[in-house]
Amino acid sequence: MIRSADPAAASTRRAARVASVRVRRRRIVALFAVVAVVIIAVAIATTRGSGGGSDPSAVEPEWPASVDAIPAPQFTTVAAAPSICDDPAVAAAVAAGDDEAVVIAAGGGAAFREAVVSGTASACVSLSDPARRWVVVNKQRPLDPLDYVPGNLVRVQGLQTMNSGILRQDAAEALQAMASAIDQSGVGAIGQLSGYRSYDVQVTTYAENVARGGQAEADISSARPGFSEHQLGITMDLMPCANGCGTLDDFGASPEGQWVAENSWQFGFVVRYEEGYTVITGYEAEPWHLRYLGPELARAYHDGGWHTLEEFFNLPAAPGYPG
Ligand code: DAL
Ligand code: ZN
Repeated sequence: MIRSADPAAASTRRAARVASVRVRRRRIVALFAVVAVVIIAVAIATTRGSGGGSDPSAVEPEWPASVDAIPAPQFTTVAAAPSICDDPAVAAAVAAGDDEAVVIAAGGGAAFREAVVSGTASACVSLSDPARRWVVVNKQRPLDPLDYVPGNLVRVQGLQTMNSGILRQDAAEALQAMASAIDQSGVGAIGQLSGYRSYDVQVTTYAENVARGGQAEADISSARPGFSEHQLGITMDLMPCANGCGTLDDFGASPEGQWVAENSWQFGFVVRYEEGYTVITGYEAEPWHLRYLGPELARAYHDGGWHTLEEFFNLPAAPGYPG
């Protein structure tokens, strides 16, 4: 083709070519865009179809057809166990301060224990009341108040006494009866080394033990002030006294000690710190340390095969002091 030499015509032809190239580029870009959209759409559809990303074991919940189809929750009314404190005989005995009558009115030692453990005695029975036979004092349960002094303290008659021969009257009478029974049994004789000890006496007793063997050693044999059962006036340490009195350490293996371990429950006592229960009581065995519970509770303790008051009343173990 013969090109015109006319510059205006040449310029018009160049403009036409440039415009044509631009149109082709736009078509190519548009085509790529369409292809890309199609690829992405296919990829999404494939992923959904294969359940990607979701739990293949998941089961679609089955919804009830209507709200009426949802079963109404069923409630059963459980009657609260009656409190022994609502029993007039128990209430009267509690008011009179007659602990033995309380336990008897509750149905006996085992029934009383059951009521305490189940919480149906909580309105009138406190294991923290230092004046009651069922009080529990240990390393986690100090006397309340700390300097508590019992009423009805008397001097124990009828058996040899070394240090404190003082006890609360009910415990003193029971100890005298037991000492007579041991005399009559021909087994030997018991003497009392230490009965009631005041808070101040326990300060001295504990300090002497710490001075002798250090605090850790003292803490497994001597209570800190305010934490000793001796302050209740219903606890005593016994010695064998058949032919002159032996020591506390002699008591467990002595005929008197063995008799006491087997029979003291009949007089209302229990050996408070038995061999093998240090992890619960916090003290090494003290076969000489007797605690008065009264006949009904001591019988339940014996018959039930209990070895610590903590277990008897389902209380936490007390191997150490708080903090
Ligand atoms: N010996 C006992 C633990 C007391 O001191 O009370
Ligand atoms: Zn003692």
